[in-house]
Amino acid sequence: MTETTATAERPAKPHLPDAQIVTSVQHWTDRLFSFRVTRPASLRFRSGEFVMIGLMGENGKPLLRAYSIASPAWDDELEFYSIKVPEGPLTSKLQHIQPGDEIILRPKPVGTLVHDALLPGKRLWLLATGTGFAPFASLLREPETWDKYDQVIMMHTCREKAELEYGRQLVESLSEDPLLSELFGEAIRDKLRYYPTTTREESPLMGRVTDNLTSGKVFADLGLPQMNPQEDRAMVCGSLAFNVDVKTILEQFGLEEGANSDPKHFVVEKAFVGDGI
Ligand code: FAD
Ligand code: A2P
Repeated sequence: MTETTATAERPAKPHLPDAQIVTSVQHWTDRLFSFRVTRPASLRFRSGEFVMIGLMGENGKPLLRAYSIASPAWDDELEFYSIKVPEGPLTSKLQHIQPGDEIILRPKPVGTLVHDALLPGKRLWLLATGTGFAPFASLLREPETWDKYDQVIMMHTCREKAELEYGRQLVESLSEDPLLSELFGEAIRDKLRYYPTTTREESPLMGRVTDNLTSGKVFADLGLPQMNPQEDRAMVCGSLAFNVDVKTILEQFGLEEGANSDPKHFVVEKAFVGDGI
């Protein structure tokens, strides 16, 4: 793992329109990094939503992309978890940001991976591949998640172990989170089921989310019943192919897709557009 961390001692004042200052950067692998920026005082969002962020392009126009906010709604700063696409217009540059640099952030949060889009339930399944973990990094740190559900199951799948590390450290930090500890004490530990798997490198748990759902392995491993519309709710975030395949499986279990305006049993959002790198 190529992990490096940098933190700003004193954020300077931004001067671009909609600019925010980078406060820390952490590189997880040669394809993944996370960073934190200052939060506009007026920005209100629901944990799980995404915004447009970017840098000024060489043509003097903002180069913006959709990014899930990985930090919870109550946090003073904003966190993002990002891919590095070698030839990617934005991330070929964004991967070089340093504390003190400016990024552009359009303060108009939107998205379907929000609690309001789900009917009340007993268990919440968070199903992600790759950077699709980002909205769940927000929701896992959101008190409403733990208030609303008896159990929260985080399934995250990547090709290799190092790609799970951001998620693993975040999940492990939940039991020490001051706000969650104050509100829920030991209950977080009892409610959380973490199910990280790899598909192309040996690790304790293996296999695609889809295969582990259809074979019933994840239910057997966690001692849970097969998903059903009476008790289970799900949020899905991965590549288009992943989202389509998971949606089919959830529908076979009897769950129906919901939306902000029509809450039901599960919601889906793309982690990116395209076939992946
Ligand atoms: P682009 O030209 O945007 O992408 C080039 C190609 O790289 C894509 O066609 C695709 O094949 C691949 N690619 C792009 N993003 C990813 C990715 N995340 N994982 C794997 N392959 C990818 N990206 C994040 O890193 N973190 C996020 O939290 C995030 N949230 C998003 C939320 C939504 C709703 C959407 C639609 C996209 C999100 N993305 C996220 C993708 C992001 O918008 C950009 O595509 C990404 O930052 C790459 O930008 P780029 O200009 O370098 O390359
Ligand atoms: P696999 O290695 O079997 O392709 P990627 O890096 O290509 O975005 O994939 C991230 C993870 O998502 C990989 O573990 C990959 O498994 C898995 N994956 C890709 N497509 C699907 C799909 N349609 N259904 C389930 N898992 C998928």
